[in-house]
Amino acid sequence: MESFLIKGGVPLHGTVAIGGSKNAALPIMAAALLTDEPCVIRGVPHLSDTEFMAQILESLGARVKFADGTLTVCARKIHGYADYELVRKMRGSICIAGPLLARLRRARVSLPGGCIIGARPINLHLKGFAALGATIQIAGGYVAATAKKLTGATMFLGGRAGSTVLGTANVMMAATLAEGVTVIESAACEPEVVDLANFLQVMGANISGAGSPTITITGVKKLHGAEHQVIPDRIEAATFAIAAAATDGEITLKNVRADHLRAVIDKLNEANVSVQRRGEALVVKRRGKLKPVDITTLPYSGFPTDVQAQMMSLLALAPGISIITERIFEARFMHVSELARLGADIEIEGPSAIVKGGKPLSGAPVMASDLRASAALVIAGLAAKGETQVNRIYHLDRGYEKMDAKLRKLGARIRRIQEKT
Ligand code: EPZ
Repeated sequence: MESFLIKGGVPLHGTVAIGGSKNAALPIMAAALLTDEPCVIRGVPHLSDTEFMAQILESLGARVKFADGTLTVCARKIHGYADYELVRKMRGSICIAGPLLARLRRARVSLPGGCIIGARPINLHLKGFAALGATIQIAGGYVAATAKKLTGATMFLGGRAGSTVLGTANVMMAATLAEGVTVIESAACEPEVVDLANFLQVMGANISGAGSPTITITGVKKLHGAEHQVIPDRIEAATFAIAAAATDGEITLKNVRADHLRAVIDKLNEANVSVQRRGEALVVKRRGKLKPVDITTLPYSGFPTDVQAQMMSLLALAPGISIITERIFEARFMHVSELARLGADIEIEGPSAIVKGGKPLSGAPVMASDLRASAALVIAGLAAKGETQVNRIYHLDRGYEKMDAKLRKLGARIRRIQEKT
């Protein structure tokens, strides 16, 4: 296994180009299953998660070519069975179920199971499929959805924590080829859902309202091949912006959508970090001493759960008390005990973390537990005095393309090493 070795205390300076969004790319790759014609998807980040998704598409019979950020998928002849061995590697793979059901009228997909950040059920995905007329059976760890015909329906897809991103994506994809009109109420408004809807429209789907809580899909008989450029990754952009603030540097983010980052920019501003447009780019730097901030994670356009851990590292450096409340995933505080190893003073109280910021951080060996927690540890390591070894960075490689190389270009002293056993 590999680790990052970081010599902290170096302010980041320079320009970083943000890659295509992982969480937009994954459902868009799955959407290519909806047509027997080739689809060309550009700006796909080269990550283990996108590699896994490519393997899953191939295992279903699709021909996939992935080179230089461009993925070509031709799903001329496919079958509807997705094996546990592949699906278990990545929860995002559940979004193949909607396209398979739409195209073949049957899908048998392994249940992805829980993960370290929470239980991650798929009941809302299944509720949507059932509303379209599918029969759902769960047996032997697999969910089987079958339908003689899919018929448009009005459905409410809100859950315990609000809307569901992949649930909305899955049901929207299934509804593109259903007969009649589907209305999804309490739909996820995330930019990744809008990006998928845009791709589906280029494929010939009839969708309106994506980006709002009500999405209307009028079914069409057939979808065709299409080309698409994936949106920039707002979570990667936020991660680099926070790293710049944490190290008291100044960086320019290129290939970034400020309109997708409003909640993050607002909280950075409150923490005394300025984020300013320079043409198409964003320039991030501290205005002075960091200030404490209270944050609650919410579905878009609220503060993203995927930036909660990174922001906690920053707030550990801000003198005063910050309260971070996690409302999306019940167990997304695994980074807290590792941040404590670097000297951060954080207590967990139910769904909230109370960060008593301003204590000096010093380097230590730490263990990455999930993707965004790993990013938080890297940020803390960059800001800490001395040497930090972040172990198990395979989590990080799932969602950040060449993070170490990008950080090195900004002046960070970070290298990838083989973990000592
Ligand atoms: C997506 O996961 C992202 N993954 C996650 O990114 C992200 O954290 C999450 O959305 C929230 O923004 C991908 O896009 C591949 P949800 P998803 O369904 O769609 C509950 C990262 O670090 N729920 O929006 O699986 C669920 O338990 C990751 O890149 C149900 O109750 O998340 C949670 O509390 C990790 N029933 C809430 O809804 C369901 O059927 C939101 O989950 C589905 C979800």
